[in-house]
Amino acid sequence: MNETIKLLHNHRSIRKFTPEKLTKEEVRTIVEAGQRASTSSNVMAYSIIGITDENIKKELRKVSGQPYVENNGYLFVICADLSRIANLDSDAVHENVKQNLESTEQFIVATVDGALVTQNMVIAAEALGFGACYLGSLRNDINRVDELLKLPEYVIPLFGLAVGHPDHEPNLKPRLPFEAVFHENTYQQATHKHVESYDRTISDYYQARDSNLKDDNWSKQMLRKYKIPTRIDVAAYVQSKNINKQ
Ligand SMILES: Cc1cc2nc3c(=O)[nH]c(=O)nc-3n(C[C@H](O)[C@H](O)[C@H](O)COP(=O)(O)O)c2cc1C
Repeated sequence: MNETIKLLHNHRSIRKFTPEKLTKEEVRTIVEAGQRASTSSNVMAYSIIGITDENIKKELRKVSGQPYVENNGYLFVICADLSRIANLDSDAVHENVKQNLESTEQFIVATVDGALVTQNMVIAAEALGFGACYLGSLRNDINRVDELLKLPEYVIPLFGLAVGHPDHEPNLKPRLPFEAVFHENTYQQATHKHVESYDRTISDYYQARDSNLKDDNWSKQMLRKYKIPTRIDVAAYVQSKNINKQ
């Protein structure tokens, strides 16, 4: 198999790292590879914050509740960032520019850009032999993250990314079957059989991994997840930063 495809098929989130830190060069290599990702209209509507201050790391761990936010080789926080446009020329920026930056469309542009730069960083890190884990858990208290990182207007944190030398070897987590996610020409209404088949696959995976989760499957997990409203403060926070207001 092609080496790049092999690397992509070998992805698994890593949540335990050795204490070894990434060098400045390694951090730079990962970020610069991230920056090569495609970006909507070349806007590059993101910023990446490297967290080297142990106190900030500790506080971010408290927000997430996940030990690997603190214990890793390096911690990045990826932000959607439209402030560069808003600040291009503070006197000359027309009111229309600011208004347009506040649209849902630009919110999508910036969050997609943030996701693309990060996924490139994950692939670069894995190509260098590191493991990585996204940390959406930083949005458990998005206002606190904003405060800790001193984020200005038009900048919101999307997620963290923990990178480091893997200290465990988790099994590959199975994905939905190709047929469940791929549609040709027009949208095909979901056939339940693909989800049922995946439920059996993932249930076997959980049994092999952790006997406590014997009876769990994807459908049950998703229903549990979506029955409870989560992070309901995010909408007001995002709007308070002048993003996704109209
Ligand atoms: C945007 C995003 C946020 C995530 N947030 C977390 C997180 O807060 N904590 C965590 O342990 N894993 C997190 N993950 C990892 C997912 O749980 C993981 O990718 C998924 O279960 C599939 O497993 P795999 O990456 O090992 O294949 C996140 C992944 C993404 C893409």
